[in-house]
Amino acid sequence: MANKIRKAVFPAAGLGTRFLPATKSSPKEMLPLVDKPLIQYAVEEAVASGIESILIITGRDKSAIENHFDISFELEQLLKERGKDEMFAQVRAVSDIAKISYTRQKQALGLGHAIYQAKDFAGNEPFAALLADDIVDSEKPALKQMIEVFEKYNAPVIATMQVDGEAISRFGVIDADEVEPGVYKINDMVEKPAYADAPSDLAIIGRYIFTPDIFEAIEQTTPGSGGEIQITDAMRLLLKKRPFYAVKLEGTRHDAGDKLGFLIATVELALKREDLGDEFRNYLKSLDLNA
Ligand code: G1P
Repeated sequence: MANKIRKAVFPAAGLGTRFLPATKSSPKEMLPLVDKPLIQYAVEEAVASGIESILIITGRDKSAIENHFDISFELEQLLKERGKDEMFAQVRAVSDIAKISYTRQKQALGLGHAIYQAKDFAGNEPFAALLADDIVDSEKPALKQMIEVFEKYNAPVIATMQVDGEAISRFGVIDADEVEPGVYKINDMVEKPAYADAPSDLAIIGRYIFTPDIFEAIEQTTPGSGGEIQITDAMRLLLKKRPFYAVKLEGTRHDAGDKLGFLIATVELALKREDLGDEFRNYLKSLDLNA
């Protein structure tokens, strides 16, 4: 099996029900954090981690994603005519970012089913999958942290982070043994357990490195949590046949598909911006938060 991760899959067919009404007719992946859509953050992370080829799994009403990564002829023409060279370069860079293809998941039957749409794209290579509403703000790109572990152990890798208290039941959760600092060998995993049943406080974050045998496992997976084909259940099946690892990500993870998580991510990323940070900080300081 090839050992280089060149391909990445972005499931983006979900209905975004946690962010209605904004997501009624616009894809949640296009919600902007400051001035960049969520999916662009994840695509940039993938490219910075060495990914060359991307498949975005879309659905109905998701054409804004394709347009975003395409050339916008009229806009480019206008920016050129007006001498807005910097903006032109910024807009062009988005369409030059990577080789991107698209396929549609015709029905939203779950994350496992979405990833299954990448079967032909992946072929017999290992590949990454990234959920765009998980934004990981880290020094080393999150996927890169995982690729290093994949290259060392030559086995599938998932991202994990510690989640305290009842919030753990909103995630897939692993039962695992630490084999080196921040790297775990997984014993078992469960999708969205009740707090009392969670095997640990290690949540699965939306970054995965799969080997092609995941597709056969998905074929054998029956609907689980929420009546959907869950990727966690498919991984659990595969776990009987091969080792799986998890890496505790360095950095901060934001759930930008959730209203509060989105607000927090917006504030934190805006404060870090060179062009906006100082003014925004002054504005926040001026607020009377007790009012
Ligand atoms: C998905 C996965 C879950 C994981 C989560 C991370 O759930 O099924 O295992 O913990 O992403 O964001 P979702 O949030 O799509 O329901």
